[in-house]
Amino acid sequence: MSEETQAPAVDERGLQEAKLREEELRSQINYHDYRYYALDSPEVSDSQYDGLMRELRSLEEKHPELITPDSPTQRVSGMPVAAFGVVEHKVPLLSLANAFSEDELRAWHRRVTNLAELNDIAMVCEPKMDGLAVALVYEAGAFAQGATRGDGARGENITQNLRTIRSIPLSISKPAPERFEVRGEVYMTKKGFERLNEEQANKGQRLFASPRNSAAGSLRQQDPTITASRPLDIFVYQLGWAEGGGAPSAHWEMLKWLGELGFRVNPLTERYTDVDAVVEHVKAWEERRERLDYEIDGVVIKVDDLSIQRSLGFVGREPRWAIAYKYPATQATTKLKNIEVNVGRTGSLNPFAVLEPVVVAHATVKLATLHNEDDIRRKDIRIGDTVIVQRAGEVIPQVVGPVVSTRTGEEREFEMPKECPVCGTAVVRPEGEAMSYCPNRACPAQIFRLLTHFAGRGAMDIEGLGESLADQLLRSGLVSDLADVYYLTKEQLLTLERMGDKSAGNLVANIEASKSRPVTNLLFGLGIRHVGYETAELLANHFGGIDAMAAAELEELEAAPTIGPKTAESVYEYLHDETNLALIEKLRQAGVRLQGEKAAAREGPLQGLAFVVTGSLERWTRNEVEGMIKGLGGSIGSSVTKKTAYVLAGENPGSKLDKAQEYGTTVLDEEGFLKLLDEKGRNQ
Ligand code: IVH
Repeated sequence: MSEETQAPAVDERGLQEAKLREEELRSQINYHDYRYYALDSPEVSDSQYDGLMRELRSLEEKHPELITPDSPTQRVSGMPVAAFGVVEHKVPLLSLANAFSEDELRAWHRRVTNLAELNDIAMVCEPKMDGLAVALVYEAGAFAQGATRGDGARGENITQNLRTIRSIPLSISKPAPERFEVRGEVYMTKKGFERLNEEQANKGQRLFASPRNSAAGSLRQQDPTITASRPLDIFVYQLGWAEGGGAPSAHWEMLKWLGELGFRVNPLTERYTDVDAVVEHVKAWEERRERLDYEIDGVVIKVDDLSIQRSLGFVGREPRWAIAYKYPATQATTKLKNIEVNVGRTGSLNPFAVLEPVVVAHATVKLATLHNEDDIRRKDIRIGDTVIVQRAGEVIPQVVGPVVSTRTGEEREFEMPKECPVCGTAVVRPEGEAMSYCPNRACPAQIFRLLTHFAGRGAMDIEGLGESLADQLLRSGLVSDLADVYYLTKEQLLTLERMGDKSAGNLVANIEASKSRPVTNLLFGLGIRHVGYETAELLANHFGGIDAMAAAELEELEAAPTIGPKTAESVYEYLHDETNLALIEKLRQAGVRLQGEKAAAREGPLQGLAFVVTGSLERWTRNEVEGMIKGLGGSIGSSVTKKTAYVLAGENPGSKLDKAQEYGTTVLDEEGFLKLLDEKGRNQ
């Protein structure tokens, strides 16, 4: 055989291998499409899916002769559900090419500027909403038809369901084209999603895996009243087509115009002419997106000028004039190997997940929190399950829920141990509480956590007394309760491992210095259940010292500003417990400060008013605004109670807002707060 005939034989084998791999990839992608689009119940993370798609694309690029018409790269994924009427899209709804790195984003920009033969090109950056694409048709100023994207050419008619979304205008009062179609993304807020899942759990119904899935599930209800009860919203991002003129000729102007017509347009949209600014924008939002109350999985960058868009055209089903810069997924699936329990400083038994290590948004996750027993049951998480793990920003990783379809029957339900895993004492679960506790205040695990907390920041702040020293002190028997710290001598410390003369001396001095910390710090450091720093501060200011608190009746504790009944009871119990009282005596003997200055009720326009601040504010940091309120005579509470006069709420306020609604507490935004200051100031 000649060399020329041999070479194709090798190629032939390569081609055969490529073909097999492509078939495998297509069948996997089709399956995952079905899970994601048809069942709203994905089994793999977005990044795993993207990985399969990329591999298929690159194989097809190498061997274009192997592309089949039904390849997932040749159509926009998704299948219309037969139960809804089918809508033919006049102009197909397309997908977007992705960029996963700065280099890929810059390469796209280079391509675009080269093709357009321009040095600078204006671009619009929009959050890439993680929801469902819809197309809304308006005729003679009225909302006439709404459809899902479906496979891009044909979608499902979900007009009745879309009509229930209040941010979709039913009629347009401004001059507008005779017929036009607006495109946008329907989504559910993170808070709405959590609330919905709580309701689902209360009704014993299936939980949704993500805001995106619950938005999809909600939109595809056969009964529009169910859709109406779901917290759905929309941002529009494109004019699909228009008959009869009047639409602007640049995308930026178009968004403004759509806003004027009454559509909801994302206010976080920006226009840039410089690619460096675009890169900076996408990078900044990777972190910042955690603070949004809805999920975005990237930023869409679009060429602003619509005539340049037209001249750039499409490659397959993807426009050249736009790209989606995708963030790494904050969720991944992995195996839950075990559920273990650790003991917190108040004795709380905290279950946590031991996971098969998995990389989520740049970090390897091996452990994740599971909150409490009820939460594990509510989400039906079982040992041995494949679970969805989520890591967002600095927050501790969480287990979102199980992937039920991968169960083998070998999975085990979690049982909260009946005995403390460290000291063996019988566990108690107070009525009405979600947490179980080890009631033994002498439990070594509890003392260890309590001791590190006591010596930590915000409490007695003893430099040098960290976890490893706390461990040694407890093991050696030199310390068995918190007060023992104040009886340690330099000689005793010198018997410990790795303890030199100098560090022992420093430690003794640091312990001495901590004796005169404010009562607030001591109160916080004692680790009384439900007494965080803010509550400790309120109590210290109100009572002046520990003795007055110990002498107070339950009613008097409850009467302190912003202290709720649960906290009052916990403080009362703590200060009526023999062991705790003995501990306090021992601290007193050692010279630890137990008495503070009873803060004279500060005079000022907000005197006597209790505030709770929640969410992120624009004008001030949390500390600034709380300092301001206190300076004007008001007090700050950590949770909303009947006594809270005002809740000052910023972005993403969380559950405190629900409590405010429950008690009918006045909720202020920043403007409202300024107005209040103004009014109160004037009445002074
Ligand atoms: S523009 C041809 N803008 O992403 C351009 N899409 O991967 C079509 N999406 O189907 C889309 N936010 O569901 C555009 N600001 C945004 C978007 C956005 C989310 C979704 C949309 C689309 C998918 C494409």
